[in-house]
Amino acid sequence: MHEFRNHIICGDCIDLLSKVEEPFADLIFADPPFNIGYQYDHYKDTLKKDKYLHWTRDWMAASVNVLKPTGSFYIAIGAEYAAHIRIIGEELGLICRNWIIWHYTFGQHGKTKFSRAHAHIFYFAKDEKECTFNDLAVRLPSDRQLIYNDSRANATGKIPDDVWNTYSRVCGTFKERQSWHPCQMPELLLARIIAASSNPGDLVLDPFNGSGTTAAAAMQLGRDYCGLDISENYVENTKIRLEELKGKSRETLFGTLDANEYLELKRLFVEMGFDAAKIIDDDKLLTIFTRQFEIRLNNRKAYDTELIQEVLKDFLVWNKKRQISC
Ligand SMILES: C[S@@+](CC[C@H](N)C(=O)[O-])C[C@H]1O[C@@H](n2cnc3c(N)ncnc32)[C@H](O)[C@@H]1O
Repeated sequence: MHEFRNHIICGDCIDLLSKVEEPFADLIFADPPFNIGYQYDHYKDTLKKDKYLHWTRDWMAASVNVLKPTGSFYIAIGAEYAAHIRIIGEELGLICRNWIIWHYTFGQHGKTKFSRAHAHIFYFAKDEKECTFNDLAVRLPSDRQLIYNDSRANATGKIPDDVWNTYSRVCGTFKERQSWHPCQMPELLLARIIAASSNPGDLVLDPFNGSGTTAAAAMQLGRDYCGLDISENYVENTKIRLEELKGKSRETLFGTLDANEYLELKRLFVEMGFDAAKIIDDDKLLTIFTRQFEIRLNNRKAYDTELIQEVLKDFLVWNKKRQISC
């Protein structure tokens, strides 16, 4: 499918995907407009409910059409339409493997009701037995390892649960923020999904490309990508974002880390949600953290704990700065 592989394409995802005869996507991540009045440059996010649901069924069916039989399909959606997405997914023959809650920090303050602080992420598969799930790539050190020093602890860590609460929204002041797009998913959240549900060389499709977060994360994890968007402006800006990333991926960080290792290290730091200052100062915790990182990268290399300590110090400063600026 050369017309899709590693391209960001301007067009309506329903038109583009429903014509395809041979499924080509190993993983699909879709973050459609939530129908809550966001300002996009080519899409009106205020459809009547029945029209929105009709459209939702159409783009989901078009996506299922290009998903390989072994493929996984993640959909992010707000509370308003979450239940509908689950039902439509099952009507289209998908199996819902997880209904994930992404509880984000830095949510917007509500005035007349409780503030919105989460989004729903559905994890569907066509075939539960055949789909990819790389548990080692997403495991975290358990409390048994970190706190209780319990010899019964699984040495490969634990699989995270289905409430994700360590990724913040991408605030306007964040370095990763693409100011030309109104809403953007965190790159590290996409990296978790891609690491779990695809393998290097697989094709990751995003039918609602937006600022290109899915493609950016896929590229850094050595996957092929394809992003579709109806806005020419978003497509052109995504191409620039990806070119800049390609340039950065040739740089070496901390004298030895490549871009993929750096991203994965940052992902582990954020996902642990554990006081990193404690890890830096404690040899046992530092060894557990380093070991978990090696496991996530398939034990392809051993890492020096002093190097990891140095990078963690840098992440602590980065994290503090973005918390202050938000
Ligand atoms: C919520 S945003 C996606 C944000 C993206 N996940 C990110 O991290 O930047 C939804 C995007 O869908 C695009 N869109 C709306 N209708 C579309 C359609 N029929 N086909 C393709 N893209 C569409 C909008 O232009 C918008 O950029």
